[in-house]
Amino acid sequence: MDKRKFIKQISSYFAAASFPGFLVSCAGEKTNNNIFKIGFMLPYSGTYARLGFNIENGFMLSLESFNFDPKIIKFEFIRLDDESNPSKAAENVNKLINKDKVDVIIGTVHSGVAMGMIKAIKNSNSALIIPNAGANAATRSMCANNVFRTSFSNWQPIYPLGKVIVDDGHKNVVFVTWKYAAGNEARDSFSEGLIKSGGKLIKVFQLPFPSVEFQSILTEIASIQPDAVACFFAGGGAVKFVKDYVSLGLKNKIPLYGNGFLTEGVLEALGNDAEGIKTTLHYSDDLPNDANLEFRDKYQKKFNQFPDVYSVQGYDAGLLLFNTLNNLQEKKNINLLISSMKNAKVLNSPRGPWMLSSSNNPVQNIYLREVKNGKNQLIGKAWENLEDPSSECRI
Ligand code: BEZ
Repeated sequence: MDKRKFIKQISSYFAAASFPGFLVSCAGEKTNNNIFKIGFMLPYSGTYARLGFNIENGFMLSLESFNFDPKIIKFEFIRLDDESNPSKAAENVNKLINKDKVDVIIGTVHSGVAMGMIKAIKNSNSALIIPNAGANAATRSMCANNVFRTSFSNWQPIYPLGKVIVDDGHKNVVFVTWKYAAGNEARDSFSEGLIKSGGKLIKVFQLPFPSVEFQSILTEIASIQPDAVACFFAGGGAVKFVKDYVSLGLKNKIPLYGNGFLTEGVLEALGNDAEGIKTTLHYSDDLPNDANLEFRDKYQKKFNQFPDVYSVQGYDAGLLLFNTLNNLQEKKNINLLISSMKNAKVLNSPRGPWMLSSSNNPVQNIYLREVKNGKNQLIGKAWENLEDPSSECRI
């Protein structure tokens, strides 16, 4: 997307959103001591753009559950498009911390970018809340006191999928994904769960991120004829993958499974092509808890669209931050904020109550869902209170 088009899209978004207290700062503006600066470093362009916007929407919605006195604390927001580009991650974080002087960064979606961000923020006096990127290292070898995650580790949502596939009567499975951190980690976790359940991973296909040239891979899958195909794709790439899978006539012959990113936020675009796809994820639209019903209703009214898991992760990032700030006397003491967020429990999350592990990663249920009548419908729990096996983290 060219820069002018992007700025136009952003301005119309601000005009439509009209959040109370939503200010866009001038870079380097002198910080008043009641101003708390939050930097969104998310993808607002490319295949993950929709994910970035939905995270921000969810985050902003969460603020409405709190009644901060503007004489005591005022929030200021800065938005930066990270373009899902790992090579710009450190520079972007340094800009947010040193030039814009943000207190907290909310970011990001892409695992490779998240790893660059952690290196840059680890020894700073700001905190990072990751509202999506699942890079295992973020809460394992690279874990840090000031890095929190309200989403998942890449290991978590797909680990239970192998058992689901074996329980459905399939043994020989092919896995397809992009070749980058999230794809590699989803592949390894899926393989671990599948083999432990008695299944066999007969072939793995990977293509560079964010390529959507699936034809030759799908043609080879048709000739191998596995019992099932499992995959990790998200955003625009997920739509293209499922559509190509259907148009090559594979869907009626070889059942397709994935972690839930395959069908999150894209059901409208997929239409009938998504019907019957089973996925595992830490959220399902129809979870029957009050927090979810209220969240879905408020989100739909405010943004005129249905929320998805990305909106929930953004919302929970907001709940974690604002709930902690609400309980603190000193609102601008970042060290106090960081120590108070440790081991937090997010009790009113749409996904059901969850808590942060000792490595700052959610301990949460993983649900089995199936697309029925254009919706991700809950089948049941695929795993209860699943904690990432993060023994490398010492904080
Ligand atoms: C990741 O890069 O970690 C990721 C991106 C989209 C969906 C899920 C994970």
